[in-house]
Amino acid sequence: MKVTVVGAGNVGATVAQCIAEKELVNEIILLDIKEGLSEGKALDLWQTAPVNYYDSRIKGVTNDYKSTENSEVIVITSGVPRKPGMSRDDLISINANIVKSVAENAIKYSPNAKIIVVSNPLDVMTYVAYLAAKTSPEKVLGMAGILDTARYRAFLADELKCNPKDIQALLLGGHGDTMVPLPRYTTVSGIPVTQLIEKEKLDAIIKRTQNGGGEIVSLLGTSAWYAPGASAAQMVEAIIRNQNRIFPCCVKLDGQYGYKNVFVGVPVKVGKNGVEQIIEIELNAEEKASFDNSVSAVKTLMDVLDNMKLF
Ligand code: LAC
Repeated sequence: MKVTVVGAGNVGATVAQCIAEKELVNEIILLDIKEGLSEGKALDLWQTAPVNYYDSRIKGVTNDYKSTENSEVIVITSGVPRKPGMSRDDLISINANIVKSVAENAIKYSPNAKIIVVSNPLDVMTYVAYLAAKTSPEKVLGMAGILDTARYRAFLADELKCNPKDIQALLLGGHGDTMVPLPRYTTVSGIPVTQLIEKEKLDAIIKRTQNGGGEIVSLLGTSAWYAPGASAAQMVEAIIRNQNRIFPCCVKLDGQYGYKNVFVGVPVKVGKNGVEQIIEIELNAEEKASFDNSVSAVKTLMDVLDNMKLF
């Protein structure tokens, strides 16, 4: 079985590394437009195999989509990352053209592939991949919610001085500062988090989560890759191993939560077909208002994309 990762930058290479270390497939294709980059990273990763004890063959190629033929999953990480002071939304015009061309090329050789989008602005780039691939909506998912809840869970683990493994959390909305972490759906080994942390501290953690990507950009001068890479690989694993895991993912809504034709983060059961089910949870008035606000921010960007007339 084969998985393709498009984009051999920090995020793409980390996705490939995580997939290899989990031995999800016997072949991983790492594709980039920059000559030598994917070949070099793939070679380095393959030389790690005898040390870290995995046997997934990693092959790097320059723009050669033929070698991605019959991939089960295609992960799109291509595009430019943020620089300090930029929002994810500032990337739309450059990255839309890139993601469009990647999705069109990749789907030609793997018409049944599930597509996982990691490029930013995430929700709109997932929409672009869907339009470009002309495939069914269950097969196109954006990775953001796993990363955003991971940040939220890590901050909670610090605050509570507890093990991050014990924290379960849910988050809705777009991958931007309007995202909606949900304390009512956050537990620590089954204990509602609201019984363990006072409101002001929880509010501060939510704010830090919403700015979690930006915090890293201002430290590093570019965007994160370890947690984004691991999060995308977790989605690949759920598909390849047909795990029916429930994660917040960016998907096309078709009436759920009262919305149609919008790509936004909601709880999704992920299995061999990609989206197995979109789960509608009950929201109180405040949560619903925050979700609506986030959807409208995403829709504004989807309109910007529509006005670019790429499709
Ligand atoms: C982040 C980028 C990958 O949130 O969107 O770090």
